[in-house]
Amino acid sequence: MNPVPMVGRADELREIVGQWARVVSGDLSGPGMVVLTGHPGVGKSRLVAAAVETLDPRPATVLAGTARLHSPAPYDWLAAVLSGRDMRTLPVPADGLAWLAQESQAPIERYAPDALLRLAVRTVRALVGDGPAVLVVEDLHALDPASLSLLAELAAAPRLPVLLIVTSQPAEAAVARHLVARTLARLSGVPNAIRQHLGPLAPEFVTEILTAAHPGLADADRLGERVWQRTGGNPYLLSELLAITAGRGVEALESLPADAGPEEAVELTARELQVLECLAAGMSNKQVAKSLDISIRTVAVHVSNLLRKTGSSSRTEAALWAVKRP
Ligand SMILES: Nc1ncnc2c1ncn2[C@@H]1O[C@H](COP(=O)(O)OP(=O)(O)OP(=O)(O)O)[C@@H](O)[C@H]1O
Ligand SMILES: [Mg+2]
Repeated sequence: MNPVPMVGRADELREIVGQWARVVSGDLSGPGMVVLTGHPGVGKSRLVAAAVETLDPRPATVLAGTARLHSPAPYDWLAAVLSGRDMRTLPVPADGLAWLAQESQAPIERYAPDALLRLAVRTVRALVGDGPAVLVVEDLHALDPASLSLLAELAAAPRLPVLLIVTSQPAEAAVARHLVARTLARLSGVPNAIRQHLGPLAPEFVTEILTAAHPGLADADRLGERVWQRTGGNPYLLSELLAITAGRGVEALESLPADAGPEEAVELTARELQVLECLAAGMSNKQVAKSLDISIRTVAVHVSNLLRKTGSSSRTEAALWAVKRP
């Protein structure tokens, strides 16, 4: 459910769709690369979701995974992709797959890192098949080093019929900032790669969102300008402001004191509260997914939102926040 229309990203969307056309027509010798960076909440995930929905022809396969924020484990991206998939038909040894899928009953015997990397590439190739497929890698800045190596391999892989869309916060935000910077540079250096850095929304797009949320809004431009100043044009902060003032009429957007940023009033959705309870109980994303009967990917989105809303730097901190709140 997303009542707010996506605004202001038409050029970016067109470019991504154009890259898909190149992949489909077989013009590229390797993957069609899209590297999308931007600050938290600027709309990277939203753009990717819109792009994937827009692709024509529909991709035969979409492999999507998000980094496990703040507690990355080896091959997090691939583990997210493999989660819930039938792996029996994959031409990869079962014990290797168990490692890659981060299964708790994975055998003690470890694979050498290189061998595991080759298995990971083989697994992705098998999942892609004849393609064309879309690979979505969200939040590269938070990925583990093994996943980054896998990405670098895939980026250089010949005859891989995929559109590879990567999102990342700027490398400075990463813990392993040099490694992340190097990976981003490498991915951006793939022939014909598309590199997009998303900036804040311009005032007219903030106005457009306000008008969509409050049809018939009088003096929309002036209010849009004020709200733009308030939110810095960050769509996440804007959506929070709208959520906080929902049901209160447009005056509420005006009547909030100028220094009360939306981030000061933490309001969690019912689902986020449930996820938070699970985190406080020490559950992994997989356990949360099972317990609430939602996908791991959805859990990851909720956890990411929770960290952002509670200003926590880890899930443990978010859980503590939950315990301490009145
Ligand atoms: N162009 C847009 N128009 C309208 N709403 C948007 C737009 N971009 C993002 N939003 C809304 O803003 C919020 C944050 O967007 P999103 O999750 O895509 O940000 P992000 O860049 O992926 O952030 P993060 O780095 O934390 O993952 C979402 O609620 C999303 O629907
Ligand atoms: Mg995102």
